[in-house]
Amino acid sequence: MARKLDQKLVEDLVDAGSREHYSDAALYDYEYRRRRADVTFYRELATRRFEGPGRILELGAGSGRVTVPLARDGHEVVAIDQSAAMLSGLRARVAKLPPAVANRISVLSGELCTFSAPGKYSLVIAAFNVLEHLYTRGELDACLRRVAAHLAPGGAFAFDVQLPDLAWLSRDPNKRWAKTRFTDPSTGRATYYSTNHDYDPVNQIALIRIYYDPVDGKGPSRIVKLTQRKYFPAELEALVAHAGLRVAERYGDFFWGPLDSSAESQVLVCERAEPRRKTARRR
Ligand SMILES: C[S@@+](CC[C@H](N)C(=O)[O-])C[C@H]1O[C@@H](n2cnc3c(N)ncnc32)[C@H](O)[C@@H]1O
Repeated sequence: MARKLDQKLVEDLVDAGSREHYSDAALYDYEYRRRRADVTFYRELATRRFEGPGRILELGAGSGRVTVPLARDGHEVVAIDQSAAMLSGLRARVAKLPPAVANRISVLSGELCTFSAPGKYSLVIAAFNVLEHLYTRGELDACLRRVAAHLAPGGAFAFDVQLPDLAWLSRDPNKRWAKTRFTDPSTGRATYYSTNHDYDPVNQIALIRIYYDPVDGKGPSRIVKLTQRKYFPAELEALVAHAGLRVAERYGDFFWGPLDSSAESQVLVCERAEPRRKTARRR
């Protein structure tokens, strides 16, 4: 079912695909308003890792879906993202919080491969497929090395990415999938949502198109690009090790269940790998 892709087109779509889906924070918040299990997972993880409140660095924090509950739990959170729209959504959300909670959140504009945040952190997180916006081995390696540089001794990096679904990847790119009707919170208009995608199996990149069509057929349709790098589990473990980290815990959902063939997500908790001891050479 896959069709041949022009590599120049893939490169153009990769940049747009890490930005367009995040250009409307109100729509993003509406689309993912029922996604709660991952928030509970990251809150429980913080409780397990800290004896009391701790310092958390959050990469790709977006509009603060996970940031705010963590701050409400008493943690200090430094939230980094590259999207101006998502960060202004987060700042607006922070402005409505009680001052004691708001004061625990710092919002920074930054990029996954080059970010820098003050201090060291016992927990760094990247929730909800954030690392799927790193499209090459070099980009993932750069990001993981920035993470390692920000980890306090004994600290952990927790993130989730999807488990590649072979049936989904090979869906017909010409059909519309997941068609749903909703009211767009930004425009107030009745809208049909649907998606389709091409998959580049060499670079392991899914080029997703999200269609927003007015139900009354009046006015233009909108097509939003969302581009995701797919990671296979054994590959991901090797990439993590290459950056000097090790997978300490691995789950297949947000309920601490095992990663198996029924899983939708790969949820990893990584720690810094112990440096290898040099073995004495025999003479
Ligand atoms: C799926 S959203 C997740 C947002 C938030 N973590 C959540 O759980 O709702 C991915 C986020 O990653 C951000 N992002 C994508 N590429 C990025 C990059 N190269 N550097 C920094 N942030 C990036 C997007 O702007 C977006 O806010």
